Amino acid sequence: MNKLMIANWKMNKNSHEVAAFFSLFNEKYSGKRDAWIASQSLHFPLVEELKTSTIKAGLQNCSEHTEGAYTGEVSSRALKDMNGHFVLLGHSERRQYFQETSKNLNSKIRTAIQEGLVAVYCVGETLKERESGQTLTIIEDQIHQALNDQSKINSENLVIAYEPVWAIGTGKTATPLMAQEVHAHIRKVLKTKFPAFGEKIKILYGGSIKPDNVEELLAQKDIDGGLVGGASLKASDFLALCGDK
Ligand code: 13P
Repeated sequence: MNKLMIANWKMNKNSHEVAAFFSLFNEKYSGKRDAWIASQSLHFPLVEELKTSTIKAGLQNCSEHTEGAYTGEVSSRALKDMNGHFVLLGHSERRQYFQETSKNLNSKIRTAIQEGLVAVYCVGETLKERESGQTLTIIEDQIHQALNDQSKINSENLVIAYEPVWAIGTGKTATPLMAQEVHAHIRKVLKTKFPAFGEKIKILYGGSIKPDNVEELLAQKDIDGGLVGGASLKASDFLALCGDK
């Protein structure tokens, strides 16, 4: 199975910077690892126009509604219609600043999958939760609440991203063994929850991934790829993360 690297550009880049990224990235990207890009909503058509066909584009959030009177929201139906492939859901910044909960993410995941997108569902513990020994219970809870009663999920339309909140944008990475321990637990939970296909669902690690720590993280048995913030903004760094030096 190819490793999957997802760039989460968050609320960064202007249109010129998007264009500059692709002029380098397209030239050197070999497809050795799969590359998906989550841009700001407004830049989606530009990314779609500039990327090569092997790269997939998506967004960082979608509404739980498909259409209607929801001023300011982004619809997964519209994203699919524009050729979008995936959407990140439940990123810790969305949970922290926009009051998203695992429970309302259950509806967002349902809608995204129903509309034909891949849902990349983010889970992770805070430093306080880790220090009090609650990491595995918190993650398990986040998985159950968001994935309960979902009949359309399969191993192709769901990806899990484990992002310890204390490792995001802080330069502190979970050690490969710390990450592997949580990934193995997630794999076990998914296997029990979805016996027919749980084992095949991709589990990505996110949190201060850099070209100099990516290989040891990806070498872990249950780490199927990465969700990258800061180091995905520079084409040369993201190329290195995709295995193209
Ligand atoms: P950093 O790679 O900047 O730590 O961000 C991780 C992240 O939040 C990706 O979604």
